[in-house]
Amino acid sequence: MESFGIAVSLLLCVMIQMSGANTELISVPLVMHGTKGKSLHIPVETHFGMNQVEFQGTWSQISPKENHLVTFENSKAIPNLQLKDTLIFNLTSISLTFKQLDEAAEGEYQLQINIIFPGQDKLESVIKTVSITVNVPLSTPVMKKSSEGTLVEDQDNVTLTCIVENGAKAKYQWLKNGKMVSLSERHIFSQNNTTLFINPVKKEDIGMYSCAVANPISHARSKVMELSVFYGPYNLEVNSDQGLRIGEVFTVNQGELIFFDCLADSNPPNTCVWISRTDNGTEVLMTGPRFEVPPHKLAQPTKFLCRAFNNMTKKQDEAHFTLVVANLGKGSEKLQGESAVSPLAAITISSLLIILCMLFVLFRKTCHPKRVLMKIYNRPMPEQKGLHRSGHEDATEDFGIYEFVSIPGKMESNHASCRSLARLDSVKDLHTTIYDVIRHVPETPTLSLLK
Ligand SMILES: *[C@@H]1O[C@H](CO)[C@@H](O)[C@H](O)[C@H]1NC(C)=O
Ligand SMILES: *[C@@H]1O[C@H](CO)[C@@H](O)[C@H](O)[C@H]1NC(C)=O
Ligand SMILES: *[C@@H]1O[C@H](CO)[C@@H](O)[C@H](O)[C@H]1NC(C)=O
Ligand SMILES: *[C@@H]1O[C@H](CO)[C@@H](O)[C@H](O)[C@H]1NC(C)=O
Ligand SMILES: *[C@@H]1O[C@H](CO)[C@@H](O)[C@H](O)[C@H]1NC(C)=O
Ligand SMILES: *[C@@H]1O[C@H](CO)[C@@H](O)[C@H](O)[C@H]1NC(C)=O
Repeated sequence: MESFGIAVSLLLCVMIQMSGANTELISVPLVMHGTKGKSLHIPVETHFGMNQVEFQGTWSQISPKENHLVTFENSKAIPNLQLKDTLIFNLTSISLTFKQLDEAAEGEYQLQINIIFPGQDKLESVIKTVSITVNVPLSTPVMKKSSEGTLVEDQDNVTLTCIVENGAKAKYQWLKNGKMVSLSERHIFSQNNTTLFINPVKKEDIGMYSCAVANPISHARSKVMELSVFYGPYNLEVNSDQGLRIGEVFTVNQGELIFFDCLADSNPPNTCVWISRTDNGTEVLMTGPRFEVPPHKLAQPTKFLCRAFNNMTKKQDEAHFTLVVANLGKGSEKLQGESAVSPLAAITISSLLIILCMLFVLFRKTCHPKRVLMKIYNRPMPEQKGLHRSGHEDATEDFGIYEFVSIPGKMESNHASCRSLARLDSVKDLHTTIYDVIRHVPETPTLSLLK
């Protein structure tokens, strides 16, 4: 316990000695970065009137070697004669100036000063240290690549080296597309960061690389160097400008020529092999990026595949697709293959829907539906009389047989004549069109118009 106490007090003593008894009286920079061959002034700030006090002190180098520089007091300074040519001491400001820095000047320096303030018999002792670095400006770094050959992803590695011809104390940093490269499993720096080792290279490593160097007085950046990597094929896709595409199924009109393009992300560009698949097996049809389908082969849905191959990475990918030929053009007689039914059916249904919609709009425009409905319901279904409906909330009211009658001479009128089915016989001679609008209404059998 006792020894511990002694150690603590010793440590405190040392700390007080190191930091100076009175930090406010004098301040000196902690670190100064000088340039080799240039002068360096170490400023000293004194926070008291220098000519109102009595003082005496010294400047000395304390590391890496001990060297006395100057001893001074109020009226005079005694410099170390050996250093007369390299140092200037200013007694007014007690500051020190190195005329021409060289490497030997690098180290720790100490200002020690004792001050007696007027009217006080106490002695203030101040110790300040400043560390001085001597630097050489860095030349522009040059970057080297371990191999000028092409790099193949997942196979090759590359070492980038940053070389600085002139300058010292450089810190190295690696940049890809202007952003710092960070350490990873594949990105390894040498101890002093002068080299970057990428193993193995991948597509993501493609980019513009540079190295940046900095020391306390300068910084520089190398020219960018492109790193290219062979990769792929990735994201293989089969595309065609013609025909209708649903997933992997392309539907094309009979007689239409169809081309397929095989697109993949690949460096160098991939080669493509087009293969047809049947129950019997596969058959290579052609090689090349574009595939023209021979028309005579299109009797029924045909399965194909595109095989993309990168001859550098030796990797390949496949995309499967099916080609269906539908007889969509004029004069269609029969469907080619089962899958052709669905697009044709869709077109028929949509055409019917469009006709129905147009009719409904026309009907709404030319005559008030309520009036006609009243007529329909009043005649064949007297039991519906009591059923009062104020609006149009039930779609079942719209069901019925509607008829449009055009009356010559009344075309300019907005109120065209509308007649119900009940009067059909009387207007048979007129030019009429009858549309049947019947829908299934499961829960209201009483409204059935088939009655
Ligand atoms: C010494 O320092 C004082 C105060 O900073 C300054 O005015 C003076 O010019 C300096 N003298 C020389 C010789 O540099
Ligand atoms: C890097 O690639 C070279 C050949 O390009 C090979 O000899 C070496 O073993 C590879 N280094 C590592 C760590 O894989
Ligand atoms: C960086 O470290 C390597 C060894 O790891 C050494 O050969 C090289 O000289 C060092 N370069 C610099 C500039 O410090
Ligand atoms: C090396 O670079 C890394 C990242 O750029 C950085 O964190 C590290 O401090 C550098 N090391 C040296 C010795 O420069
Ligand atoms: C399968 O092969 C046989 C004989 O080689 C041939 O007759 C038949 O048409 C082939 N089937 C298909 C779907 O190509
Ligand atoms: C690899 O593919 C590229 C692009 O398709 C081609 O130009 C090159 O001749 C091929 N190289 C070999 C060795 O097949």
